[in-house]
Amino acid sequence: MNHDKTPVLEAIDQYRRSDDYTFSLPGHRFGRGIDDRTAAVLNRSTFEADVIMAKQAVSEAEELMADAVGACHAVFTTCGSSISIHTAMLTVTGPGKKILVDRNVHKSVVASLILAGAHPVWLRPCWDEERQIAHPASARDVEAALEREPDVSAVLMITPTEYGTGADARRIAEACHRRGLPLLVDEAWGAHFPFHPVLPTAAIQAGADLVVQSLHKADGGLCQASMIQVGGDLVDPVDLRLRLDLITTTSPSALLYGSIDGFRRRMVIEGRGLLEEAIGRANALRDRLAALKGLSVMDESIIDQPGVAEWDPLKLSVDVTELGITGYQAKEWLLEQHKLTVQLGDTRRVVCSLTYSDDDVAFQRLGDALEALATDPPAADREAPRIPPLHEFDLEQAMPPRDAYFGETEQAADPAGRISAEMISPYPPGVPAVLPGERFNRAVVDYLRAGVAAGMEVPDASDPKLGTFRVVRG
Ligand SMILES: Cc1ncc(COP(=O)(O)O)c(C=O)c1O
Repeated sequence: MNHDKTPVLEAIDQYRRSDDYTFSLPGHRFGRGIDDRTAAVLNRSTFEADVIMAKQAVSEAEELMADAVGACHAVFTTCGSSISIHTAMLTVTGPGKKILVDRNVHKSVVASLILAGAHPVWLRPCWDEERQIAHPASARDVEAALEREPDVSAVLMITPTEYGTGADARRIAEACHRRGLPLLVDEAWGAHFPFHPVLPTAAIQAGADLVVQSLHKADGGLCQASMIQVGGDLVDPVDLRLRLDLITTTSPSALLYGSIDGFRRRMVIEGRGLLEEAIGRANALRDRLAALKGLSVMDESIIDQPGVAEWDPLKLSVDVTELGITGYQAKEWLLEQHKLTVQLGDTRRVVCSLTYSDDDVAFQRLGDALEALATDPPAADREAPRIPPLHEFDLEQAMPPRDAYFGETEQAADPAGRISAEMISPYPPGVPAVLPGERFNRAVVDYLRAGVAAGMEVPDASDPKLGTFRVVRG
């Protein structure tokens, strides 16, 4: 196929050059109706490109994308990977059906379970007690779970995790396919994986049946640009489109589609070189940081820890515990002192998403800031939350998520032993520590409260300060 073509961008461009006029939408009439003060910030050309008619060119752009990544089909979406995940989940599962799900999922998966009325069978992540993080469930755990639960409708994995550790997607896909089950993979941070061999294997190439990617997270799409890829014939692409139609907007943004189109062209033509450079810079930065006292930098030696089959070299994970501060404080310090925003700060570390857009100057700036942190760290200004033994995070699913979410609820100041009616997801990364239907235990309640005191944010909680928790009444 001719990957120099960008059907959506060309449709937008053609419309702008024509003298067509619309008495339909958008009401701003391609920027004519906006004032100069708005144009000064958003740029009039943004509105000129807001050509909804360009959606007619999307199917050709999707075919080009499918060809570029080795999928049978690609479906572009415009409400983020959250809507792609809802769509994918509603396609492979439904009311009362069971689905095997890695518990380390993003909150959008839990929302999908609530929307679908499906029953999760949780796969416990591989807890890494040394680093105090979760890696994906292992292929062996998936195989064992499929033996125990022969009536699940599908399997969902998230890989790589927010720390960049990846599952053995190929072996998990084989285990699913031996039973005729589709494998759905949330690969939100990996839209560039198909374009360089050193990066984790793209899930679609590892045999996954449905893959969800955000184009805006580590790649060149505008925010909310996302994509679902279909591999093999276990998922009906017509069902997928009908489910998307059920929940998405009827006025998609051509800007988002156009950004996906341009990203695919760039990756096919120049992706390998761009990513090669980015990986080289990331490795050089890791070498520089590894030589510094007080910082512990994750590297490829993480591969072969239980659950870790692959590792993403463009995730920079730096443990700052030895400096005597938390990752929350380090994150704030980097922003205040160096105007640098990192992807996440947690109890122990900061994580940066490195991309092909970061040039030498940006890498130098990040390296200098982390070196300054290591050389002259701030005094600890808060207590680090005690992380309980990680198996304490394995909460009992006492009720289906949907029943708990829509049931009678009340706010409880001491929820230990009660059934949650809400999600509580430290953000980022947005993996719920507690979700509807799970029974709170003391360790998780204490950890969350200590976390919030130390700088953790839980924006989806009914009370983000965690004074009270929403629980099932009775
Ligand atoms: C792993 C993962 N999946 C899904 C999502 C949802 O993506 P979006 O913000 O594009 O809706 C996120 C967002 O942070 C994520 O990290």
